[in-house]
Amino acid sequence: MNWNDIRRDFSVLNEVTYINAASVGITPESAIRAAKAWLNERRYGNMHWMDWYERYKSALKLFAKLIGASENEVTGTYNTTEGLNLIANSIDWKKGQNIIINDLEFPSNTFIWQVIAKRYGLELRVVKNKNGYIELKDYENAVDNKTKVIAVSWVEFSNGYVHNLPELAKLAHNHEAYLIVDGIQGVGSLEINVNETKLDFLSCGGHKWLMGLPGAGFMYIRRDFLEEINPPFAGWLGDKEPFRFDYREYQAPKTARRFDLGSPNFVGYVVLEKTLELISKIGIRKIENRNKSLAKLLIESVEGDIVVASSLINNEPMSPIVSLRIDDAENVYKKLREKKIIVALRKGNIRVSPHFYNNEQDIEKLLNELRRI
Ligand SMILES: Cc1ncc(COP(=O)(O)O)c(C=O)c1O
Repeated sequence: MNWNDIRRDFSVLNEVTYINAASVGITPESAIRAAKAWLNERRYGNMHWMDWYERYKSALKLFAKLIGASENEVTGTYNTTEGLNLIANSIDWKKGQNIIINDLEFPSNTFIWQVIAKRYGLELRVVKNKNGYIELKDYENAVDNKTKVIAVSWVEFSNGYVHNLPELAKLAHNHEAYLIVDGIQGVGSLEINVNETKLDFLSCGGHKWLMGLPGAGFMYIRRDFLEEINPPFAGWLGDKEPFRFDYREYQAPKTARRFDLGSPNFVGYVVLEKTLELISKIGIRKIENRNKSLAKLLIESVEGDIVVASSLINNEPMSPIVSLRIDDAENVYKKLREKKIIVALRKGNIRVSPHFYNNEQDIEKLLNELRRI
């Protein structure tokens, strides 16, 4: 794989050392050109509409392929949060049931379940992390036959901890519960096959590791789960025959596309079509290995005991999200930014998140600047 050639499509890397895909990924020039071409077409009103719709479906297809789903199990959303809300509001809740989350989740994946629990008289059980790890046995202790949902991130945003989704799916299914996954910190960075993992639902925005625009994302819903739920909304694009405009009864298709409401964010999916093509061309396994090897270089090169170890398993990175415990992190973060080294500040730590477009020199630059500071 010639990573240098691939990197050329991310020309801002000549200006900035950007190691921050866990916040917002960089959009490649090829996708920016596609967006500009779309805006040009947009000048003509609806004349290219059906072509845009095909591009939307093409992006959905590429997303399905990336995660090992069938086309009928995926559709578009604005963002991760919308997808999680849609599914949370589609479940037929019964008073007395419980939902399990953990205390490391991104706020959306906490707030949604708090609201749902209050509205339907459910118990919210919060599994506590131990030093940034969430142990399976703590989930086993929390689950019972009243559990309806285990909601979890694939990869935790603040420390890179990767949950054992196959085991959590088994645990959920043994109790007739669903495994609902916030996938945004994994999709496009790590390999997954949703069929083998057996999760029931995954939501992911497109603007981080998928390198797309904010406001266009995806969700996956397992086929048999789809049959058990009752979506809260209906719309023309989510009908069996979206291009029939006569008065009639709404007929939802038996696919995830029933969650489509109205006009999609086409330019967002034109960009995602391009970035997903790039990911597919490189191969997600190669991307995962590349991302982890850049993370490993960072972990092995930092001085002192500052790596938050919960992203590691047997000293190997589980994900490319690396958090560093550094004194006065806010000031360090600002100083790095002054030098155009872009990372994130999360929970008082410096969070570094290399993607395949980064290289060893980016990591070296960060290390040199950290030493200097
Ligand atoms: C784990 C996780 N979930 C959800 C979000 C929010 O995603 P969105 O803006 O797509 O809803 C983020 C980051 O912004 C995140 O890291």
